[in-house]
Amino acid sequence: MTPRVLFLNHSATMGGAEFCLLDIASSLRESSLVVLLEDGPFRQKLSAVGVRVVVIDAGALHRVRRGSRLPSATAVTSVWRAAREVAAIARDFDVIHANSQKALVVGSLAARRAGTPLVWHLHDIIEPPAFSRLNIALDVWLANHRTDRVLAVSRATAAAFVGQGGDQERVHVVYNGIDTAPFEEPPRAPTFRTVNGLDRVPVIGCFSRLAEWKGQHVLIEAVADLPGTHLLLVGGALFGEQEYEARLRALVHSRGMAERVHFLGQRDDVATLMQEVDLVVHPSTSPEPFARTLIEAMLAGHPPIASECGGVPELITSGQTGYLFPPGDVGALRSLLQRLMGAPDALARVAVGAREHAFRHFAMPSFVSAVTGHLQAAATKGQVQRVGRTPQAVTT
Ligand code: GLC
Repeated sequence: MTPRVLFLNHSATMGGAEFCLLDIASSLRESSLVVLLEDGPFRQKLSAVGVRVVVIDAGALHRVRRGSRLPSATAVTSVWRAAREVAAIARDFDVIHANSQKALVVGSLAARRAGTPLVWHLHDIIEPPAFSRLNIALDVWLANHRTDRVLAVSRATAAAFVGQGGDQERVHVVYNGIDTAPFEEPPRAPTFRTVNGLDRVPVIGCFSRLAEWKGQHVLIEAVADLPGTHLLLVGGALFGEQEYEARLRALVHSRGMAERVHFLGQRDDVATLMQEVDLVVHPSTSPEPFARTLIEAMLAGHPPIASECGGVPELITSGQTGYLFPPGDVGALRSLLQRLMGAPDALARVAVGAREHAFRHFAMPSFVSAVTGHLQAAATKGQVQRVGRTPQAVTT
């Protein structure tokens, strides 16, 4: 039986964790509801695929950042209010799935109030300095005492959680699944390259929101010394990283690359654009928990070139399904790009392996069934506990 799932996510902006939840919720749309703690594009995307969505505005909660120390009194009040509303809804569901840290905080209060089991989907490597000690301590305590299980998006993500005191028994690794359909359609004509006169020049693509730790500056520096090579930066400054975008633009300007670097912003035609470029690079400078873009690149026919950190080496075996370089190492990235641009046959061979690897290990149906299995297990345990606590429930 499919469990009735209440999905909880604080953000309504489309980051990787939101794309992942979009996939799960749309597969379970018949029996689920998504609660967002703010309104925004994610609500529209969910509604467009027939998922029921409710927005509960958690106001001041959104001003608490991952590096924040003590939360304000208004943030605490917002959490309580939101948790009360979520609890009222949760009584009609078998399990709550919290998809972010803020969702974990609200979800754990709501789950306790409603007597509903809680599963936390962990999409972050929770380590300092990216997260404050207080944030980490709160997450780990809630995970260990209030959740039934934690789904980590990679072994590296699980290891960081356990390293910070998280309960090893509770954590299960579930890699993201990626919908292959958009990558099976050939690029539409006229393509971006043709329209912009880029058919005869090498084009490198980076498909990620603009954020310092995603490392676009490293890639710009590497491409600066590859004359004639163009760079597509696809992705926007989604979470208040406008200052980083301004720095990237200034860097491009100061290196005289304005003609060669194309800022495309947030796009819905990622699969098409990916199939058009010659190489895909993902240059994160901090440990990346999973990086969906790497699997998308494989599906688009590229061996992704990525920095070796976080969960990335679990997805890519260098020389077999992609290529790895040390995080932040401009020189190493530049030499790798030069070498690969001069070796199209080797690149094509590795691309075939990469595509097979993506189809075999990151298919949507097995991902959805793994997540559903965990949600079902948590729901069943919750029912057993509820029946145990209230004997009259057995007879009704
Ligand atoms: C977060 C992580 C990213 C991962 C995504 C989906 O956005 O930063 O690495 O791909 O969640 O799990």
